[in-house]
Amino acid sequence: MDIVLSGIRPTGNLHLGNYFGALRNFKKMQYENTCYFFIADYHSLTTHPTPENFQGNVKQALVEYLAAGIDPEAATIYVQSDLPQTAELYLLLNMNAYMGELQKVTTFKDKARKQPENINAGLLTYPTLMAADILIHRSHKVPVGKDQEQHLEMTRTFARRFNRMYKVDYFPEPVAYNFGEELVKIPGLDGSGKMGKSEGEGNAIFLADDPKVIRKKVMRAVSDAGPTEKNSVKPDPIQNLFKLMEAVSEKETIDFFEEKYNNCEIRYGDMKKQLAEDIIQFTAPIREKIIELNANDVYIKKVMDMGKEKAMVSGVKTISEVRKIIGFRP
Ligand code: TRP
Repeated sequence: MDIVLSGIRPTGNLHLGNYFGALRNFKKMQYENTCYFFIADYHSLTTHPTPENFQGNVKQALVEYLAAGIDPEAATIYVQSDLPQTAELYLLLNMNAYMGELQKVTTFKDKARKQPENINAGLLTYPTLMAADILIHRSHKVPVGKDQEQHLEMTRTFARRFNRMYKVDYFPEPVAYNFGEELVKIPGLDGSGKMGKSEGEGNAIFLADDPKVIRKKVMRAVSDAGPTEKNSVKPDPIQNLFKLMEAVSEKETIDFFEEKYNNCEIRYGDMKKQLAEDIIQFTAPIREKIIELNANDVYIKKVMDMGKEKAMVSGVKTISEVRKIIGFRP
């Protein structure tokens, strides 16, 4: 069985795009592999969050992943800082990570541009910490988006470097976990590209949004005056509405509106009304679960404790083997 690991940003606010992009596939993945999911709270310190909502954000992320179908019995879901062995491996890997290669990383350059007043060492060594997350469980596969591929490439470099340096075959070189066909790109509501949290107000439907909010967002989605020629090609914003429908609606519903479109009889108001109701129906079980879990601190603590315990087993083992390989006192 492969060891699969995935890092989660402690922000909460998962949206439909996240769900169809990866989350939905995690549900199956977790029963076919040894899976580790962790909430990257160490990483989030690179942007200097205030302590007030720090815990809350970690909890919210955990709650939403559980609500979306992560099974804490099958997979190991833990908080990054509950496994300090990660930090020790990070320190050790940093000794063989070079300034030049770290400075070249795209995400570093972007972040440095975005927060010029706070270009801290954690930001520079973000890829080393990510490598530590992955290598601490000697993971084989990591489900990552395009924006994280360079980090994964560096993880392979660090793993190879360690193996070469100490003449061992200890760390596997992790590759991207590929969902292939199962990955569905969900467009945003603003008529342009994909659904995203940072794409502006109203572009994304969050799994925790209540029906009123969903109706409002969908009704405000960008559309146009409608086709004037039969069977015409759909402009992007209209294509987007249909793509959303394909994700959440019944086939008959989609066919109905396709036909209306092709006959130039479509009324986007009606289509959006239907789309909103179908999104509401689709997200309702997740949303209800989020509310239920948010009210159950005892259970959440139990999940965190259990995750920590399971993550420790593999983390402690790796770190003691690494220490031995490097030559520290046993
Ligand atoms: N960098 C990832 C992101 O921004 C989060 C992350 C941290 C991660 N450590 C990881 C992802 C290890 C995969 C594996 O989304």
